[in-house]
Amino acid sequence: MSGFFSSLFENIRALPRNLVRGLRPGVDTQNEVASKRLRRNFIYHVHPLRVTERALNPWVTLGLGVITATCFFVLVISGVLLMIYYIPTTKSAYASMEDIQYAVTLGPFMRALHRWAAHGMLITVLLHLVRVAAMGAYHKRELNWVIGLCLAGLVMGLAFTGYLLPWDQRSYWAVSVATAMLDNVPLIGPTVKILALGGQQIAQATLLRFYMLHVALLPAGLVILLAIHIWRVRKDGGLACSKDLPESQATIPAWPHLVLREAILIIAALVALFLVAMFLDAPLGIPVDLHTPSNPEKAPWYFLWAQEIVSYSAVVGAFVFPLVLSGWLLLLPFLDRQTTSVGRWFGGHSCKMAVAIASLAAVVGLVVFEWLYLKSGGGGQATASALWLTDLLNPATGMIGLALLVATLSGMSTGSTKAACLSGIAVMLIAIVGFTLMGLCRGPDWVFYWPWEEWPFVN
Ligand code: HEM
Repeated sequence: MSGFFSSLFENIRALPRNLVRGLRPGVDTQNEVASKRLRRNFIYHVHPLRVTERALNPWVTLGLGVITATCFFVLVISGVLLMIYYIPTTKSAYASMEDIQYAVTLGPFMRALHRWAAHGMLITVLLHLVRVAAMGAYHKRELNWVIGLCLAGLVMGLAFTGYLLPWDQRSYWAVSVATAMLDNVPLIGPTVKILALGGQQIAQATLLRFYMLHVALLPAGLVILLAIHIWRVRKDGGLACSKDLPESQATIPAWPHLVLREAILIIAALVALFLVAMFLDAPLGIPVDLHTPSNPEKAPWYFLWAQEIVSYSAVVGAFVFPLVLSGWLLLLPFLDRQTTSVGRWFGGHSCKMAVAIASLAAVVGLVVFEWLYLKSGGGGQATASALWLTDLLNPATGMIGLALLVATLSGMSTGSTKAACLSGIAVMLIAIVGFTLMGLCRGPDWVFYWPWEEWPFVN
């Protein structure tokens, strides 16, 4: 009896110590040096004490993840400062933007910094995705790959919700055309549209919803996922690298080698963003005119490929193509389980060849499909009876078919799942770049003009 009480008393006395120990898993006496450093220095929460020499090679990551994170940091700081003056009501939004642009000290600089950092983040996050895919660095990092895809979605969501906030002619009609695409998504599309807009049309409720998403919900989601993402890079054993590469064996201390390099990269990215913001103003369009749509009405550049495809077939642009692309990306680490050549650009020699041939086929295919489509009178007034044919046969479905064909042929000829997956994705990405370029060349009434051609004047 007395033994029980003395144990209980001992346990209660030890409770604070055990509680703190419980909060610090990983602190163990066997690894005393590491755990002391970890407790003292934040950097060792992000990096291990030692990293492989490979982590220092700038050609492996191209610094894209770090630059993306730097852009996000700049966006948060400049965004909070802009929030001091911005008023999210349809009556005052544009006027508050004018105040920031013309009356507030450093207002134009903050706007420009926020705008260019947003474009920078979009570009670098997409390039980061491509580099991770091209290196097969999703191998044994399935969870982090999926988290990364969610991060890319959040970055696009942030850019899109921010697009509406100036409430000028360009932003209003761009968001209008992009949200109209949701009407073509089967089952959930119209409901999602009403939820996003807060009604059938863009109005006060939309502005408030976009503002709330832009300043609160999406950034909070991004911070949480980003923390998990960076933690997972460490938990997954650092950068993906196959055992046959010599740099995967040798390790060096993370401090100062890796940390200093990262600091230099962050400073360089900050200086570049500040210089761009100093010399390139963020344009503020004319006030919104609800009765006169812009002609052409264009979605933001990162959704322009979908709008271009919608001009061939609404259901393919808004649903089929995005579904195939996102499904392919999501399944990539599960379809390709090949462990060889992880961490090498485009895998081994045969995989490189397959991707190169696929890219060439994609460019040729795109030109041929566009030419056939225009020659067959596509883009004109299709009759209702011919609509199903246009849904079935258009440049976008052509490119999906080509991606599947190329992936199958690459897989069969090389025997490699990596070659199959990457060559198919290469075709899809080249299609996206091509459709974006086509979208950029569209003038009034969505007519194609070469960049050097002048657009006719339309009222
Ligand atoms: C907010 C966006 C993102 C940020 C700030 C970010 C940041 C980072 C950083 C700093 C790294 C360490 C190595 C490097 O710099 O490349 C990394 C690695 C990684 N990221 Fe991201 N990332 C983002 C989005 C994505 C996306 C869109 C994907 C792919 C769908 C992705 C997948 C991965 C994977 C799999 C790794 C491990 C790569 C390896 O082991 O070589 N990330 N990320």
